Amino acid sequence: MRLANPVMTASGTAGLGTELGAYFDVSSLGAVVVKSLAPFEWPGNPAPRLAPVPGGMVNAVGLQGPGVEAWLRGGMIELIEAGATVVASLWGRTIEEYRRGAEMLAGAPAEVVAVEINLSCPNLDKQIIAHDAQMSAEVIAASQVCGRPVWAKLSPNTDRLVEIARSVTAAGAEAVTLVNTVQARTLDGVAPALANGSGGLSGRCIHPIAVRAVHDVAAAIPEISIIGVGGVTGGAEAAELLAAGADAVQVGTATFADPRAPLRVLRDLERWARQHHIPRLADIGLLG
Ligand SMILES: Cc1cc2nc3c(=O)[nH]c(=O)nc-3n(C[C@H](O)[C@H](O)[C@H](O)COP(=O)(O)O)c2cc1C
Repeated sequence: MRLANPVMTASGTAGLGTELGAYFDVSSLGAVVVKSLAPFEWPGNPAPRLAPVPGGMVNAVGLQGPGVEAWLRGGMIELIEAGATVVASLWGRTIEEYRRGAEMLAGAPAEVVAVEINLSCPNLDKQIIAHDAQMSAEVIAASQVCGRPVWAKLSPNTDRLVEIARSVTAAGAEAVTLVNTVQARTLDGVAPALANGSGGLSGRCIHPIAVRAVHDVAAAIPEISIIGVGGVTGGAEAAELLAAGADAVQVGTATFADPRAPLRVLRDLERWARQHHIPRLADIGLLG
């Protein structure tokens, strides 16, 4: 598939609808990736759920959301009316829950161009699915019922990233999104800063981890499509991920400090492309 340009929002950092529309025209991005949705409403974790740390933050939002069907009736319609290219994101605790969510998304209109499968959340055993190559493949296979391209969002918290990327690709993922947050814990004095205890680290400080993940997967599997995410705050980090082997990038935590960050990254990248004699950003990579 081809997007108009290779810059998107990162799931969970841009709301469920047109929240960013107050700051810029969301139709200017390659795609708006919405917060991960389950086939049911989910309350998420108790507060406090965010803690700033130098160069980023630790979050344990816990996948709060209204569920796929409520989004199809609300946030999705808002986004389409705003002219956005939309990517839904799905989570579940079991293969069956992913299948159920994907079935619900099968009814979405063509403006929902892909479904990113968030494999980096705890399953019933509190394990991250993306650390299990077999289960990840089964989830990706079950999610094909959504009837559009499926992307696998993987975790950086494993030494088996290449094996897992291979496994989800064989199961039908058209791209891998690298990376989700880095498992972390931060204290406020001597007590955990988050009600959940641990959380996921994101922001500029994890950028080299994302670059390493993209590089390792691209080097081992040159034919794979990769969406790079992690610590992109401006065009320099986006270009670094593209140079490491990504076909497109997503902007997450930077949006909390500057809601226009995704658009700024796109404009920076357009300048970078001109300097490197790339006439159209759409010429970068399969997804771009
Ligand atoms: C507050 C918050 C909520 C997030 N929620 C989700 C989510 O629902 N689904 C998902 O796949 N990733 C989620 N992420 C991970 C981001 O999409 C992204 O992979 C990660 O933050 C690294 O990118 P960044 O450093 O640009 O933020 C969340 C991140 C943050 C900070």
